[in-house]
Amino acid sequence: MDAAALPATPAVIYDLAVLEERLQQVRRLRVQGGLKVLYSIKACAVAEVLRRIAPHVDGFSASSLFEARLSREVLGGGGEVHVTSPAYAPAELEELARHADHINFNSIPQYERCAPLAGGSRRGLRINPQYSQVADPRYDPCRPDSKLGVTLPQCAAAWARLMKSAHPPDGIHFHSHCESRDFSPLREIVRRIETALPGALRQVRWLNLGGGYLLEEGVDVSVLTGLVGDLKHRHPDLAVYFEPGKTLVNEAGSLVASVVDVFDREDVRIAVLDTSVNHQPEVFEYQRTPYVREATAAGAHEYLLAGGTCLAGDLFGRHRFSEPLKIGSRLTFRGVGAYALAKAHRFNGHNLPAIYLRLPSGELRLLKQYGYEDYRRRWC
Ligand SMILES: Cc1ncc(COP(=O)(O)O)c(C=O)c1O
Repeated sequence: MDAAALPATPAVIYDLAVLEERLQQVRRLRVQGGLKVLYSIKACAVAEVLRRIAPHVDGFSASSLFEARLSREVLGGGGEVHVTSPAYAPAELEELARHADHINFNSIPQYERCAPLAGGSRRGLRINPQYSQVADPRYDPCRPDSKLGVTLPQCAAAWARLMKSAHPPDGIHFHSHCESRDFSPLREIVRRIETALPGALRQVRWLNLGGGYLLEEGVDVSVLTGLVGDLKHRHPDLAVYFEPGKTLVNEAGSLVASVVDVFDREDVRIAVLDTSVNHQPEVFEYQRTPYVREATAAGAHEYLLAGGTCLAGDLFGRHRFSEPLKIGSRLTFRGVGAYALAKAHRFNGHNLPAIYLRLPSGELRLLKQYGYEDYRRRWC
């Protein structure tokens, strides 16, 4: 189905055939690697996408009460819900515990205050291994003075006390990376945990390796599966979880937009679109130039693609096309399945994109469409 067949733009389309390719990799990791895989729904919580992922994973990982509740709604009794957050409000813990099988605590004070309120959920401690390879500190969970997780020296000092408490941790969680294609830091992190907390992996029932890794074509997962094999050989009762988000859904999602104006500036021709960085906030956050399917490096016609908001920096970079763009030309941004809709907003009163599913037959199914009433409900 080509973009021109879409009824209206802007629209985000989730392609089930692409999603299925990633889910096959997940199945291999679970079956051959012995890993338990949770999908981190913060990347994309479109319920129909969650329903398609659910049968292929052990459950979902959530970062708030709402994500945990939606996870439970979609999974019913058919999967685990794990929650990790630096900010549990005491008033929401009781409800959270009804939805979550595992609750991971982020600091020793939070653990000691909130673990008694976690009902029948299993309690985990998020540690911060202070080891990562993330260049941008804004996205580095292990940045100096990070708020995310208990450092290993702090953990070592408190471990015996926590284990003797009425609600000892029965799992360790960490999440240390972002868009990494190299799984080898996981080995070093596990070594650090075993050195700082000798015997801890025998005391707990599970270890959660977090997400932040890409399972792309050509990425060597043998380091991950080898590590899990080694852990399970030494600790046969230890369940090892992996909770990827972006890598499962990103390539399945594309955003189709239309050109609404074209004009010249001193140095470049500008094409204004009916989308904006409102719909892909990471383009602005990371100052990324997104991938546009219709663009071609050898094209004779260059445009600066601009979003339609009042923000001067609402731009998608310069792209070349083999044909001139006209009012109504449709452009497709690829790789927007993760974090785009999750972070999208209505700044300037611009509507959110409609959401479609592309079935393997090519048919497009409309899942969500927003209008003035949705905008109004937020303010009135
Ligand atoms: C605790 C935790 N787990 C999993 C993820 C998923 O990461 P990604 O989408 O990069 O795989 C995140 C992302 O921020 C996270 O904070």
